[in-house]
Amino acid sequence: MADDVTRRLYELYDVLNYHNYRYYVLDDPEISDAEYDKLMRELLDIEKHHPELVSADSPSQRVGAAPLPAFETVAHTVAMLSLDNALNEAELLDFDQRTRKALGSASSVEYVCEPKLDGLAIELVYINGLLSLGSTRGDGVTGENVTQNLKTIKSIPLRLMETQRKAPARLEVRGEVILGIKAFENLNRQREEAGEPVFANPRNAAAGSLRQLNSSITATRPLDIYCYGIGRAEALSFETHLDTLQAFRQYGLKVNPQVQLCRGIHEAIEYYERMKEMRETLPYEIDGVVVKVNSIAQQRQLGIKSRSPRWAIAYKFPAREETTRILDIDAQVGRTGALTPVAIMEPVIVGGVEVSRATLHNQDEIDRKDIRIGDWVVIQRAGDVIPKVVKVITSKRSGNEQPYKLPDKCPSCGSRTVRPIGDAAQRCINLSCPAQVKERIFHFASKRAMNIDGLGDKLIDQLVDKGLVRDVSDLYYLTKEQLAALERMADKSAENIINAIQESRKRSLDRLVFGLGIRFVGEHVARVLVNAFGSLEKLSRASESELEEIYEIGPQLARSIVDFFAQKDNHEIIERLIAGGVDIRAAATTGMKSDLLAGKTVVFTGALTQFTRQEAEELVESLGGRTASSVSKNTDYVVVGDSPGTKAAKAKELGVTILTETEFKKIVEM
Ligand code: IVH
Repeated sequence: MADDVTRRLYELYDVLNYHNYRYYVLDDPEISDAEYDKLMRELLDIEKHHPELVSADSPSQRVGAAPLPAFETVAHTVAMLSLDNALNEAELLDFDQRTRKALGSASSVEYVCEPKLDGLAIELVYINGLLSLGSTRGDGVTGENVTQNLKTIKSIPLRLMETQRKAPARLEVRGEVILGIKAFENLNRQREEAGEPVFANPRNAAAGSLRQLNSSITATRPLDIYCYGIGRAEALSFETHLDTLQAFRQYGLKVNPQVQLCRGIHEAIEYYERMKEMRETLPYEIDGVVVKVNSIAQQRQLGIKSRSPRWAIAYKFPAREETTRILDIDAQVGRTGALTPVAIMEPVIVGGVEVSRATLHNQDEIDRKDIRIGDWVVIQRAGDVIPKVVKVITSKRSGNEQPYKLPDKCPSCGSRTVRPIGDAAQRCINLSCPAQVKERIFHFASKRAMNIDGLGDKLIDQLVDKGLVRDVSDLYYLTKEQLAALERMADKSAENIINAIQESRKRSLDRLVFGLGIRFVGEHVARVLVNAFGSLEKLSRASESELEEIYEIGPQLARSIVDFFAQKDNHEIIERLIAGGVDIRAAATTGMKSDLLAGKTVVFTGALTQFTRQEAEELVESLGGRTASSVSKNTDYVVVGDSPGTKAAKAKELGVTILTETEFKKIVEM
C-alpha cells in the first residue's frame, strides 16, 4: 500500500516536472492548466498525508518558504567573471585581432554569439542532478545564498533531466535571471496602485525580486532564466561552448534560442546588427551581444585577465541615451499644488522616439545634479518610462548657463509657494489656484473616481479659464447652453457631457471620497473609510484618533483627512455637491454593506465567471475585508474560478478555506 503511494508520488513528480518543462522551458505546453492543476492537487494531497515522503525536488517546493533573517554568503568554487566591453566595431575588431594573435591563428576564429541579457547573474549547483544551491554572483568571489528564491523560478529544473545524459556528481551552471518587459510593467502598475516605489527598469525589478528574504514574494514574480556558462563540472568536459549549451538543453536547462555559431568576426558583426533590430521586439531587455570563443581548448589557451576572460567580450548596443540641451525649465502645478520642474529640451530622437520634455522631479534633484538652463545633458529613456536627465555634461558649459530655482510665486495664480518642512515638494498655497483647480477637476472626473465621460483636460481648461467652474461642485450647476457656447462644442457633445455629469451623481460614496483628492487617500483607502464611517458626514467629523483606530489608517493619513475637512472651502464644496444633486446617501449604502468580512483576507484565483475581478474585489472591501494577490497562512478564503492556478493548491496545502464562486456568493449574500 505505502509502496503504491510512493510509486504514484514519484510518477507525479516526473509527470509534473515534464509538463513544467514543456511550459516554462520550451514554451510549448502539452496539457491544459486545469489538467496540470488536477495532477498538482493529487500530489499535494499525497504529500499532505505523507509529509515524510516530500523530497527537495517535488514540484510543490516552488511556492516559497518561510522568510529568512538574512542571506548566507556563498563562496563560488570558480570565480564568476565579468566581461570587457566593446563599444564600437573598431573595438570588436581589436578583440578579434588580439584573440587571433594570442592563438597564433592566421585564419578566422569560431565564435558563439549570444544576447547580452540585462538581468542578474546567478549560479546553480546541481549535486547528482539535484538542485542543491543557488547563489547570486555578488562580487564574483562570494555571493548570496538565494536557493529558496531560485526554486520558485519555474524554468529552473529542481532536478536535471537524465533521459539523454547522466548528471555529473557536481555541476555548476551559470545564467542570467531576468524579468520580462510585460511582467515588469505589470509589477510597476501594481506597485504604483499600492503606493509603493516603482522599479527603474526590469533589471532592478529582477534583482529586487530575487533578493527577497521572503521567497513567497519571489514566487509571485514571473522571473525567468537563461543559462549560458559553467563553473566546475565534475567528470564532465566539453570541447566547445556550443556543446556545453547543448548538454544544458538535454538536462532541461533553459538556453536562449538566439544563440548562434559565427565563423569569424564578420559573422559576429552581422549577428550584432540583427540583434540590434530584434531588440525592439524581444519580450525582455538586452543591452548588447556577448561574443565567446567556441573552442574550450582555445579558451584555456587565451586564459583570463584579473576579472574577465580574454576569450569573450560584450559588444554593447548604443545606450538608449542621447545628449541634448535644456532650453528652459517650466514649473508645472499639480493637484496638491506641488510644483514639478520640467526640462524643455531641444528635440532629439532617443531609441526611436522624439523627446523634448523630461521631468526633473523636484528642487533637490536639480540641486543634486546641478542642472542649469542652457546645459548640455545626457537623457535616458528606458522601456516605456518617461525620459529622465541622467547627468549634466559640465565640460560643455560656456559659463552662460543659468541655475534654476522653483519660483516663489505660483506660475499659474501668482500666490506664494512654500516648501513645508520634511516635504520634497514646493507647493502653491492657494487652493483656488487655476492650475490646481484644473488638476483636481481632472482627477475628480477620472475613470476611477466619478467617471465623467468626455470631461477631458481641454474642456476643463476652458471651463476654468472662463470662470464657469471654480471647484468640482460647479460641475453640477453647468447648463447645456453654457457648454454649447464653448469653442469647438457641438450641441450634441454638450448634451452628452450633461448626461455624463448626470450619471455621475449616482456614483458610490467611495468614488466620491477618492475623487475629492484628499492627500494620501487612494481608491483602497477611500473604500476603507466609507466602510468604517458609512457616511460622508461622519467621516468629515472624525477625529485623528478615531481615524487611527481603523486598521490601515496611520497618523499621516489621519492628519491629512482631518486637515481636509477642517478647511471651510472644502465644507462648502461638499455642501454644494449635495445641493447639486450628488446623491451621497444612496452612495453611502452601496459603499458600505456590512462588516461581514471585517478583518478577513480573500484571494481570488482562476477566471471568475460570475463577477469581474474588480467587482469581486469591491464586494470584499464593501464588506469590510481586503483582497490579496497571493495566498499565505494569513489568508482566510481562497475563491476559485475556472482553471485555478497554483494558488488553489497552495491554499489546500496551508489548510485555507477554499470556496467556489457560488459558495462565495452565498456567503456574501447572507
Ligand atoms: S558570460 C566569463 N553570457 O554580463 C563570462 N554573461 O559583464 C561571464 N551577461 O555578469 C559571463 N548575458 O551577468 C555571459 N550571454 C551572456 C550574458 C552574460 C548577460 C551578464 C552577466 C555577467 C555580465 C558580465
